[in-house]
Amino acid sequence: MRIIQSGVGGFGSTWIYTVRDTPGFQHVALVDPNPDALRNAGEIAQVPPERRFACIEDALASVEADGLIDCSPAPCHFETSSAALCAGLPVLVEKPISDTMKQAKELVKLAAKRKLALMVTQQYRYQDQPRAIRKLIAEGAIGEIDHVVAEFQIQGLLFGWRQQMCHPFLMDMGIHHFDLMRYLLGSNAARVMAHTWNPAVSNTKGDMSAFAYIEFENGAKVNYTGSFASPGTDTGWNGRWVITGTTGSIVWNQRDEWGPVRIFRQNADRSQYQEMHFFTPLPEVWGETVWADPIGPTGHQYDLYHWQACIQSKTEPETSGADNLHTLALTLAATHSADTGKMVDVSWF
Ligand SMILES: NC(=O)c1ccc[n+]([C@@H]2O[C@H](COP(=O)([O-])OP(=O)(O)OC[C@H]3O[C@@H](n4cnc5c(N)ncnc54)[C@H](O)[C@@H]3O)[C@@H](O)[C@H]2O)c1
Repeated sequence: MRIIQSGVGGFGSTWIYTVRDTPGFQHVALVDPNPDALRNAGEIAQVPPERRFACIEDALASVEADGLIDCSPAPCHFETSSAALCAGLPVLVEKPISDTMKQAKELVKLAAKRKLALMVTQQYRYQDQPRAIRKLIAEGAIGEIDHVVAEFQIQGLLFGWRQQMCHPFLMDMGIHHFDLMRYLLGSNAARVMAHTWNPAVSNTKGDMSAFAYIEFENGAKVNYTGSFASPGTDTGWNGRWVITGTTGSIVWNQRDEWGPVRIFRQNADRSQYQEMHFFTPLPEVWGETVWADPIGPTGHQYDLYHWQACIQSKTEPETSGADNLHTLALTLAATHSADTGKMVDVSWF
């Protein structure tokens, strides 16, 4: 598949290597207003100088391609992705699809009108463990979901356009976990109450820490803590999850030496509950480790293959633009709740 990539510095360099190293994909043009980024990426991807461009319009006008990967800064996604859709190219756009719902909906409409695959890179769900957890939940391994506690903490420094955002944490990072919630629970969010603030160790203008209480349409309640300003703490990018259902719990913690996914199944008479808490040392008896089946290529490679398969079969990607409106709605609703101090109905977005 012949790829134009827009935004090749910063995280774009990850995409440069991913496309280069994935059989069946090759860069045919690169776009970035920064000449140094363009030169570095051009050398790695072996794209000659005449197919390196400072703006998307020139690339679209000069080079034949089968799709665009949009890894430009979030505020540029609408301009870049809409130009490619209007030129008849399928688009794989980095999250957030856009920083406004109006523009995100416009992109979804454009793609639908032209019957083009518009997919958002929410690659956290395209890993072995979340795939296995979702299957366990769907099979009823822990009954009906009652509540979830999800925690993410990493010390992160953000630069450039992110330093000016009002809600850099929620829009840049929390959005991955919100998408994971939707995926794991198989449900969309109904209401959210969030509080955000900016700890002293942060290097941004906007808020780098958040608490959120979220109710999902299927009745599940989620307690989310997220921070990019937590020196000395590192939950890993997926975060730590405890998902509690009516007959047991699943814990997902990539830092757990006993295994990243563990399940505790409660006996019908709840006898284990007594045993576990009062008479047996933890963590030896605590649940069983679940070794997730490998799904093959994961993360961004999964993004690429899935996008390509959907283009070929003319089907909707799992994380299509249309599906992703629900993830963006939850994220924007959380920022709105933080700004107003009120519980926000997600469907309002
Ligand atoms: N999926 C993930 O895990 C993940 C991780 C990091 C970043 N991202 C996303 O990737 C996107 C880019 O983030 P980043 O960290 O690379 O930002 P960045 O600021 O580090 O780099 C952006 C690059 O885009 C270039 N650029 C600026 N304006 C442009 C335009 N109009 N057209 C093309 N290129 C332009 C810049 O010169 C720079 O090289 C964002 O949407 C971000 O949320 C996703």
